[in-house]
Amino acid sequence: MRLLRLDKLLCESRGVSRETARQMIRAGRVLVDGTALKRPETKLDPAAHTVTLDGEPLGWTQQRYYLLHKPLGVVTATEDAREKTVLELFPPQLRRGLVPAGRLDKDTSGLLLLSTDGDWVHRVISPRHEVEKAYLAETDGELNEEDVAALAAGVTLRDGTKCLPAKLELLGDRRCRVTVTEGKYHLVRRLLASRGAPVTALHRERIGSLRLDDSLPPGAFRALTAAEIEAVLINI
Ligand code: URA
Repeated sequence: MRLLRLDKLLCESRGVSRETARQMIRAGRVLVDGTALKRPETKLDPAAHTVTLDGEPLGWTQQRYYLLHKPLGVVTATEDAREKTVLELFPPQLRRGLVPAGRLDKDTSGLLLLSTDGDWVHRVISPRHEVEKAYLAETDGELNEEDVAALAAGVTLRDGTKCLPAKLELLGDRRCRVTVTEGKYHLVRRLLASRGAPVTALHRERIGSLRLDDSLPPGAFRALTAAEIEAVLINI
């Protein structure tokens, strides 16, 4: 049994600052087994109680799950001697044990999931589970229906790398959406370059059923709900 302070529980499960958590608790927005507990320092065993924020269960588990709007210019790594990492976008108290589910290049923005739950991370990134990752790309060069068919059939890159079938949607004006189910290094850039259309900008907009919230600016993150943790593995 792990006793946790109510404010710490809120910080860890909702990704809010300690100060915000205290305000939420003092405002009576947090109920423990149906009763508002207004003292942030109250200690409890989260596994033994139902804790809600604004009527929504916190869905607290030992594990933590986050959705980050990765900005351009930071690297997907837990540490790096020279570059700023995605972990540095989280407050120090939330970084422990957190790993990214897959990677986005330094010059790719968009949806990145991170968790302390290694099994879940593996399921999100493993091609065996066929979780879709959708990217918006801008290219230097037009793509056409032949390219759509080539990606759908599965491209073999010049170095012999065989790629799984991918979906290419042409959006006009040198913009397209590419949906893949595997996570090879520089996959989207290499797929489109192999069709004569080098990528000039890349943004991930979806993983499985999870889309980047419009309200989440680059560099911001939020905790996933219990329903989202399950649902991400289902494509929409
Ligand atoms: N494919 C790429 O080329 N880059 C990314 O960051 C993600 C997918």
